[in-house]
Amino acid sequence: MAVTAIVGCQWGDEGKGKIVDLLSEPADFVGRYQGGPNAGHTVVHQGEETILHQIPSGILHPDVICLLGNGSVIDPRILFEEIDELERKGVKVAGRLFISHKAHLIMPYHRAIDEAAELAAGKGKIGTTGRGIGPAYTDKYQRCGVRIVDLLDRDHLEKKLRANLKDKNKLLRDYYHSTELDVKHILDEYLDFDKKADPYIKDVSVMLNDAIDLGKEVLLEGAQGTLLDVDHGTYPFVTSSNPTAGAAATGLGIGPRRINHVVGVMKAYTTRVGNGPFPTELAEPLQSDFRKWGGEYGATTGRARRCGWLDLVIGRYAARINGLDSWAITKLDVLSKLDEIKVCTSYRHKGKTIQHFPAEPWLLDEVEPVYETLPGWQEDITNIRRYRDLPNNCRSYLDFIQEQTNVPIGLISVGAEREAYVPLSVEALGLEKQ
Ligand code: IMP
Repeated sequence: MAVTAIVGCQWGDEGKGKIVDLLSEPADFVGRYQGGPNAGHTVVHQGEETILHQIPSGILHPDVICLLGNGSVIDPRILFEEIDELERKGVKVAGRLFISHKAHLIMPYHRAIDEAAELAAGKGKIGTTGRGIGPAYTDKYQRCGVRIVDLLDRDHLEKKLRANLKDKNKLLRDYYHSTELDVKHILDEYLDFDKKADPYIKDVSVMLNDAIDLGKEVLLEGAQGTLLDVDHGTYPFVTSSNPTAGAAATGLGIGPRRINHVVGVMKAYTTRVGNGPFPTELAEPLQSDFRKWGGEYGATTGRARRCGWLDLVIGRYAARINGLDSWAITKLDVLSKLDEIKVCTSYRHKGKTIQHFPAEPWLLDEVEPVYETLPGWQEDITNIRRYRDLPNNCRSYLDFIQEQTNVPIGLISVGAEREAYVPLSVEALGLEKQ
């Protein structure tokens, strides 16, 4: 029985939702360890698309228990919209979703500050999802955040809200020249949330450790991706949490030695939403072609994603930071139209070759990608389900990724539907052979 962490290895939107959904089939538990409603995980089953922002995609499998760990930030409004939407589609959520009592809440002032700060930053803005993620995590580390346990005592909550709002309203009014918020209104809204949320709140750490002791199959789901990690990403153009594998333990309250497998999800090319460096970003008109072929629009904000060639400097970096055991390569079918495909293997800067992903933002803006050009396969692969049926050039592309990163590929995804995938090695995915 395994505990497997699934992490994004680029700038998010790698297709983790589909991979978690696929690997959830034999799972008993799926736990999210960081992030909030900034994520958008898309799953397509029998032609029906479901986009999940906070709830793990494992919820679409009726026997899977889903957990939101202490490392995530919860927006109650969005959470209950998502629960209602799932229940409308016939997915039973009650009794299958549990939220850590230690998770922090996204408050209305977090959303207001996120929007106001981005507006005030003008051209220097990060391009956040506007969901209040950064301000909620700022309060967590400033030690004035509101946790789910705070909802249990009305007086304590009111006191905390009054203290917080004094500062937040000052900031909104005097610095951002924006609208102030009302304590009473927020208090009523969150106490109402407390009543609705009651059956979902648990000590997730106890629950998960017990499950692991019993030998249950567990998936740990990261949101966003390695390059949006607040420590290891393209700072400051990052999110405010740690999507990398190390956070899977702290974000759910389990020991690091409990995790015995890490799967990295990487798109067969690269995308990013929001601002920040992107060495292999494509020029037009190919950038727009990729966007069209891959449907590259944000699942949360609808923003057009920036598109580029696969970057294996990033691939090797993600393999190292996350300690990857295997890859899940997604959207390989999107490359089928190309007669040749470029892959970045290193960068050049002022005559020097760079093999390791640099931390200096100005360097990342200036580097020139060094490409290998591989032949395309120009054949529809969306209906292929066996590795040996893939075109030769497609298999060479996969071999190249494995050689360059020194990580085996466990599966590839060749279309949006749940069934559209080709397993390469179930052992590499940490699954036992059926
Ligand atoms: P925030 O997480 O809303 O603060 O946004 C910070 C940066 O992370 C922005 O560039 C966002 O576009 C990006 N981001 C946040 N969540 C996701 C995601 O799920 N997929 C892709 N990018 C994301």
